[in-house]
Amino acid sequence: MVRGRKIEIVSFLLLQIVVVAMAANVTYDHRALVIDGKRKILISGSIHYPRSTPEMWPDLIQKSKDGGLDVIETYVFWNGHEPHKNKYNFEGRYDLVKFVKLVAKAGLYVHLRIGPYACAEWNYGGFPVWLHFIPGIKFRTDNEPFKAEMQRFTAKIVDLMKQERLYASQGGPIILSQVENEYGNVDSSYGAAGKIYMKWSASMALSLDTGVPWNMCQQGDAPDPIINTCNGFYCDQFTPNSNNKPKMWTENWSGWFLGFGDPTPYRPVEDLAFAVAIFYQRSGTFQNYYMYHGGTNFERTSGGPLISTSYDYDAPIDEYGLVREPKWGHLRDLHKAIKLCEDALLATDPTVTSLGSNLVASEYKTSSGSCAAFLANIGTESDATVTFNGNSYHLPAWSISILPDSKNVAFNTAKINAATESTTFARQALKPNADSSEELGSQWSYIKEPIGISKADAFVKPGLLEQINTTADESDYLWYSLRMDIKGDETFLDEGSKAVLHVQSIGQVVYAFINGKLAGSGNGKQKISLDIPINLVTGKNTIDLLSVTVGLANYGAFFDLIGAGITGPVTLKSAKSGSSIDLSSQQWTYQVGLKGEDTDLGSGDSSEWVSKSPLPTMQPLIWYKTTFDAPSGSDPVAIDFTGTGKGIAWVNGQSIGRYWPTSIARNDGCTDSCNYRGSYSANKCLKNCGKPSQTLYHVPRSWIKPSGNTLVLLEEMGGDPTKISFATKQTGSSLCLTVSQSHPAPVDSWASDSKILNRTSPVLSLKCPVSTHVITSINFASFGTPTGTCGSFSHGRCNSPRSLSIVRKACVGSRSCKVEVSTRVFGDPCRSLAKSLAVEASCS
Ligand code: GAL
Repeated sequence: MVRGRKIEIVSFLLLQIVVVAMAANVTYDHRALVIDGKRKILISGSIHYPRSTPEMWPDLIQKSKDGGLDVIETYVFWNGHEPHKNKYNFEGRYDLVKFVKLVAKAGLYVHLRIGPYACAEWNYGGFPVWLHFIPGIKFRTDNEPFKAEMQRFTAKIVDLMKQERLYASQGGPIILSQVENEYGNVDSSYGAAGKIYMKWSASMALSLDTGVPWNMCQQGDAPDPIINTCNGFYCDQFTPNSNNKPKMWTENWSGWFLGFGDPTPYRPVEDLAFAVAIFYQRSGTFQNYYMYHGGTNFERTSGGPLISTSYDYDAPIDEYGLVREPKWGHLRDLHKAIKLCEDALLATDPTVTSLGSNLVASEYKTSSGSCAAFLANIGTESDATVTFNGNSYHLPAWSISILPDSKNVAFNTAKINAATESTTFARQALKPNADSSEELGSQWSYIKEPIGISKADAFVKPGLLEQINTTADESDYLWYSLRMDIKGDETFLDEGSKAVLHVQSIGQVVYAFINGKLAGSGNGKQKISLDIPINLVTGKNTIDLLSVTVGLANYGAFFDLIGAGITGPVTLKSAKSGSSIDLSSQQWTYQVGLKGEDTDLGSGDSSEWVSKSPLPTMQPLIWYKTTFDAPSGSDPVAIDFTGTGKGIAWVNGQSIGRYWPTSIARNDGCTDSCNYRGSYSANKCLKNCGKPSQTLYHVPRSWIKPSGNTLVLLEEMGGDPTKISFATKQTGSSLCLTVSQSHPAPVDSWASDSKILNRTSPVLSLKCPVSTHVITSINFASFGTPTGTCGSFSHGRCNSPRSLSIVRKACVGSRSCKVEVSTRVFGDPCRSLAKSLAVEASCS
């Protein structure tokens, strides 16, 4: 025993020594974060842990590391961790400690944005809705009840991190924490109290004594020593509010989020790389991709109004956890090029020279002779040839070249050396052997959700109630129900006569049922105004209005008070006489949530499922259930909800989120090929106009067993569940790339001490992403003046006849290949012209 204790004590001491030895001292100066006395160039990326599963985390983190990230940035999601006051959840997707430890295990740092306000297109901006019901509370201002809750939760997270020794000061990975989020964007709306609150937030955070710096983003007046940081599509023009603070960029939007009813935004990587490069060129030293992996808004976590379930964000790692090429690869090359400049970048401030209109050179030159340069063409129209230090450089419009030795180009933001990888969704029936929809139909069972009031806890109130105050967001659904007696001698309405029901709501969806039948519906971001022609009968009539939220607002001053639901007026107008009656202040009966939610039909367990045919379809408010075997293979899985209307779905009791394939993207503003040159904005590059905003919904593999899985959906508007199918996402069956003679040689031809190893020509390199695949065919190859993009390449007037055979020989049969892009290899088919090599290859 005594010996055992001794060993225990010795190993405890050893552990302390190890921890102390690993503990890092994080400070900052005007150039950078300083870790253990060394300034750092840091490249960061956001991954929000509840937007994927713990099973996905190690791979996402590894892909981030392979992509050249040093830091993972995440918000902390208060409403996920404390769904009910003082009842905490740090399990499963909310296992923050595990996530931070996995990042540490991969050797990366963490930037923990505690907030606790997040924004993030997350329900209610991350605030638990119960906060709203604390008497006297006012959010995000100088209000005692709010500050008390904010401090309690912030301290709770800091304590948890400290207990687990996760701050860098304790040997952990967390090098930076954030308090609040973009408060400076809205603080003027809160007046003088806003300023007091902001200062209080800062000192509250500092008092928690994390041992590492704090930041506030978009807060120009963040008090010392808090670092004010920038968010935006570009932050090169940003300067921190003190000469002692480094220039840091906490959100570089790698794309943009999707809303139901919206086209899909994308951000060309040439522009994203340009934004990053010019930030480091102009003295920035910390940059974070928001998002690096966007993921999925499972359950009812999406913000509002109308944020989609997918939070793909056009990020370098897609929603399903697959790298998106060429975005991921081009940024990886960029990160390598920036890191080649690290010593020079950190040693000094740049010397900036103009090389002409819109042409800027920034050189970082140290006394010891190491140097690096960035050459920028910020013009949007024309390419330029510039002379720098006596050498000539070609600079495409809106591009930056990085010269780690101030001489040779390691990278240009507009010249991509990473191949485009195709992605496809392979369809699979819900049951492997079900080959007809009739057969599939019989595999579904159903339960009809009652129309109108059915629960014992329904209650009566005069007037129209605001929805969030009424449901406390325990459910998306609130019934507003009214019984009307129409007498035969009614002058307002004769029997069977037509009327118009007018309903006004502030969101987000309304269904109107008259006498148990769906009469009309509508949806909107801020305001819904419905005029529904209806028929009433003599005697009893019911008007049941189902109001549905699709994510609570998450952004803007006082977003917490925007509210939802039917505001009124609700009126009935006689089609015949034109006279109308206002029903708004009548005695309405209310029901929060659906009956099937109370009985947990989502779990699939109920004994009430009806399996006799025919299966009712295209009718509102039906719960459907089926069982299925796992789609074959190991590729990520999606369910294609085409054929259904709108609702919520569960796989093995786990909510995969809201589905809404009938929400169609507005037919406006899309372009097939977006010009990356010039300032990007959220609606500059859009695709998918006029099509459903989202048909495919991610089901993490770890939620699916090999067989006997349950899928449940609550279909609100009416649909046919037998049309549902699986899709597995595959990547890389074809690879495409065009490399010109003016492309830089691969960045890997540089040694880590920023010496170019061998002066090579540009190289076209291909690699099948799946490790068991090889290149099976070259579908197109042309050295000369090829045109087009993936899938549509064609020869230009100039083409080396040997192109195809040379590329075939180098590539077919191998997983990867490299072909030098030069006349030495291909001969010169057209002497005076600038040439490129375009290749399309298949892998399997
Ligand atoms: C920022 C905010 C983020 C996110 C982003 C848009 O304003 O800080 O949380 O909402 O916009 O995706």
